Amino acid sequence: MENYTEQLAAKGYIEETIDPRLDLVQEINRLKKEKNAVILAHYYQDPEIQDIADYIGDSLGLSQEAAKTDASIIVFAGVHFMAETAKILSPTKKVLLPDLKAGCSLSDSCPPHLFAKFKEQYPDHLVITYVNCTAELKALSDIVCTSSNAVQIVDSLPRDQKIIFGPDKNLGDYVKRKTGRDLVLWNGACMVHEIFSQEKIDRLRAQYPGAKFIAHPECEEHILRQADYIGSTTGLLKYTIQNDADTYIVATESGIIHQMQKANPEKTFIPAPPNNACACNDCPHMKLNTLEKLYNAIKFELPEIDLPMDVINRARRPIERMLEISAQFGL
Ligand code: 13P
Ligand code: SF4
Repeated sequence: MENYTEQLAAKGYIEETIDPRLDLVQEINRLKKEKNAVILAHYYQDPEIQDIADYIGDSLGLSQEAAKTDASIIVFAGVHFMAETAKILSPTKKVLLPDLKAGCSLSDSCPPHLFAKFKEQYPDHLVITYVNCTAELKALSDIVCTSSNAVQIVDSLPRDQKIIFGPDKNLGDYVKRKTGRDLVLWNGACMVHEIFSQEKIDRLRAQYPGAKFIAHPECEEHILRQADYIGSTTGLLKYTIQNDADTYIVATESGIIHQMQKANPEKTFIPAPPNNACACNDCPHMKLNTLEKLYNAIKFELPEIDLPMDVINRARRPIERMLEISAQFGL
């Protein structure tokens, strides 16, 4: 992955220090208008980035938005696989990622050459891949899914259809339980969702007996078993709006709490504690993006997502199939 400084130098730019007196929000908004750019942000971004975005959403919502935008430039405040998905869906647009090093442990857990070998062992299986993977991996798939449509996508296939599901074994296990189907799973996981502490969550629940415990399906089974609600980031946010409880223990990346708190100022949100000394659940990849990097990205129109056209062409169909099936389910 070529880094930002190298891309800047290749285009003849020198990285400038940002004037500390500059009102970054105002400048980003001005540049956005001038360049017909749109900022798409995931819920795990820092609050200041979420607040300047034109659209904030989960992976499905962000893909749908990237597919329909008429902006010339998409600034993707998220991680690399998300910006790649936007590029695949809108190949003629310039797609920028404020920090090209913003990767994903789940995506890294499934190198395409190893997955291709794995797939060879199951020639009669259909391949469904979670969107948290590289464009190369999507190109090896039949259908892509996200956490908000994985169950419906599996359910939409004939009962006797054999399926490989990757790269997230926790989401795969969850889909198996929900659909009652036997999927062949790749053994990948997300570093943020794998470390929740059962013991600390039990203690919190005893301390707040009226609280609802809500979790993302990337969490392990023993955590999901206790949950009052399981869903994608958008699903979790909607649940906190529709539910009457005044306190929620939230087992996913802590960035989502910003929108939960904005939508429900009178309610209390407690991040579920991880199994380490830190009291936070930050995704180190998501948090690489900053307002300063976002400003530089929109100003220099760099760093840009660049994908070979053959990968774009092979990866687009599985993503489009996901969007079609989601539309059939009203998602
Ligand atoms: P969703 O926003 O689709 O729930 O995905 C969560 C996630 O881990 C993204 O990296
Ligand atoms: Fe990847 Fe997990 Fe970070 Fe999402 S939260 S980007 S799945 S490492």
